[in-house]
Amino acid sequence: MGLVGVDRVKHFIAVASGKGGVGKTTVAVNLALAMSGEGFNVGLLDADIYGPNIPVMMGLSQRPKQEGKRIIPLEKFGLKVISYGFFVDENQPFIWRGPLVSKAIKELLDRVKWGDLDCLVIDLPPGTGDPSITTAQLIPDASVVIVTTPQEVALADVRKAVNMFKRMKIRLLGIVENMSYFQCSHSEAKIEIFGKGGGEEMSRQMDIPFLGVIPIDIDLRKGGDAGIPLMIGSPESETAKVFKEIAKKVKASLDI
Ligand SMILES: Nc1ncnc2c1ncn2[C@@H]1O[C@H](COP(=O)(O)OP(=O)(O)OP(=O)(O)O)[C@@H](O)[C@H]1O
Ligand SMILES: [Mg+2]
Repeated sequence: MGLVGVDRVKHFIAVASGKGGVGKTTVAVNLALAMSGEGFNVGLLDADIYGPNIPVMMGLSQRPKQEGKRIIPLEKFGLKVISYGFFVDENQPFIWRGPLVSKAIKELLDRVKWGDLDCLVIDLPPGTGDPSITTAQLIPDASVVIVTTPQEVALADVRKAVNMFKRMKIRLLGIVENMSYFQCSHSEAKIEIFGKGGGEEMSRQMDIPFLGVIPIDIDLRKGGDAGIPLMIGSPESETAKVFKEIAKKVKASLDI
């Protein structure tokens, strides 16, 4: 690979989707924490250069220190974390062209002193554009976790992303279906707001393992907004258990 920053990283897990707003960052953060809870050394890289959300979701805003040209990742909740959002004013939009975005992602892999990590979780922006392609090209042995919601408009976009990764010969670890249902505290019934079983059906059709079902959970959203992820704020909740199960499956399939 020739990227100095990640030369001691054993596994790369990119969290991707063809669709925006389906919960990639939420899954990336909580999966990274669940992996860390399994006893692994874990890093979290925000590859969403245009709209980095990791700083808010991890409650981080300091500027990372530098050692010469090397960047030292911030540390929080046991994770090493880097986002382009740490280097810019959070209210200013990035107006960059594709090649610059690719260069930025390369820098985050190359110049950051990630050190010894069992796995680096990479939060990708939506779609099949430059950031996903760059990541796949720079790290051909990365594995991808696909996030989708159950409704057809999401699944249609996600299928395209799956096909792109397949064409690039990137390993697909599995599909997570997010926002699968809402369990109202006043009733036993699960309300399937976005439909039922779309992620699982896609996993069968596209021959990719199914990793789990995450409900719509107000605490998950609140934790993201407050910078205290659910895995830290409510580690015993039902949703946290789902993330732990997903982490176990990821661990088993990566053999770590
Ligand atoms: N299961 C869930 N229950 C409740 N809220 C959720 C759930 N998953 C995600 N959210 C919320 O939905 C919003 C979008 O989630 P998130 O930012 O993780 O999606 P994304 O796919 O990374 O978006 P983008 O495409 O913009 O990067 C956030 O406010 C998040 O807290
Ligand atoms: Mg995101």
